[in-house]
Amino acid sequence: MTILITGGTKGIGLAIARHLAPRGEPLVLGWQGDEAAAQAAVAELAPLARAVRADVGDAAACARLVREAGELDGGPLHIVHSAASIYPTPLLEADLTAFEGAIRTNGLSLLYLVQAALPWLAPGSSIVFISSAGARQVLANYAALGCAKALAESLIRYLVPELAPRGVRINAVAPGLVATTSVAKMAGGEQAAERVLDRGARANPSGRLAEGADYAAVVDFLLGDGARFVQGQVIHANGGAYVP
Ligand SMILES: NC(=O)c1ccc[n+]([C@@H]2O[C@H](COP(=O)([O-])OP(=O)(O)OC[C@H]3O[C@@H](n4cnc5c(N)ncnc54)[C@H](OP(=O)(O)O)[C@@H]3O)[C@@H](O)[C@H]2O)c1
Repeated sequence: MTILITGGTKGIGLAIARHLAPRGEPLVLGWQGDEAAAQAAVAELAPLARAVRADVGDAAACARLVREAGELDGGPLHIVHSAASIYPTPLLEADLTAFEGAIRTNGLSLLYLVQAALPWLAPGSSIVFISSAGARQVLANYAALGCAKALAESLIRYLVPELAPRGVRINAVAPGLVATTSVAKMAGGEQAAERVLDRGARANPSGRLAEGADYAAVVDFLLGDGARFVQGQVIHANGGAYVP
C-alpha cells in the first residue's frame, strides 16, 4: 500500500513518516510552502518517499495530490491527514475570509481527500486524521483549528457507515502538545512557544510533552490489521493531559 501523509514534511507528519518507514511501503509526503523542508524529508526517507506540493484547502489540489499518490504504485492507499494551517484569533475578531479558509484547510480537507481517493481505497485501506484536544476543549485563540478539527471528527463519524461496507476504515489520533513550528505560530514566536511547551510538560500528569513514537505508533496500529474492527474513533495520545 502507498501511504499518503499530508503535512508529512515536518513536525508530527514527518515523525509519523519516520515511524512508518520500516514498513517499506511507498510514502507520499504532502507539503505547501516550505520546499527546503520537503527536499530534506525526501532525502532523509529515500528511496521510499516523494513529496507533492498541494494546498489541502483546495478540493482540486487534493484531487491532484491523491491521484499522484494513487498512481505512484497503482494503489491502494492509506491516508494520514496531518496538514494544518495556523490562524490564531479570538472568534469575535476573526477575519471571516481567513476563518473560512482555515475551516477548509483544517477540516473540510478531510472530505476533499476521501472523496478524491475513492478509486484508490480498497478493502484494508485506512484513513487516519490527525486531530487535537482542541476539537472539544476550548483553548485560547484556537477556534480556527479547534472548530475545524471538530468538523473533521464529525465527518469521520458520518463517513464510517459509507466507508465500512467498502472495507475501508477511518479514525483519528489526537497527539498531545508537541514542539513544532505550528506551536510557535500559535504562541506568537519561539520564546512564547518555549513557555507554552514548558507549562504543558509540567501540567501533563505523565510529566513530559509528547514524542514522535507516542502518537506515531498509534497511527501505525490504526493502519494495520490489528485495528481491522476499529472505526470512527478519536484516540488521544497525550499522556493524560486531556481525557475526554
Ligand atoms: N504540535 C502540536 O502540539 C499538535 C498537537 C495536537 C495536534 N496537532 C496537529 O498535528 C498536525 C501537524 O501539526 P504540526 O504541529 O506537526 O505542524 P507543522 O510542523 O507546522 O507542520 C504542518 C505541515 O502542514 C503542511 N501544511 C500547512 N498548510 C498546508 C496547506 N494549506 N496545504 C497542505 N499542507 C499544508 C506544512 O507544509 P509547509 O511547511 O510546506 O507549508 C507542514 O508540512 C496538525 O493537524 C495539528 O493540528 C499538533
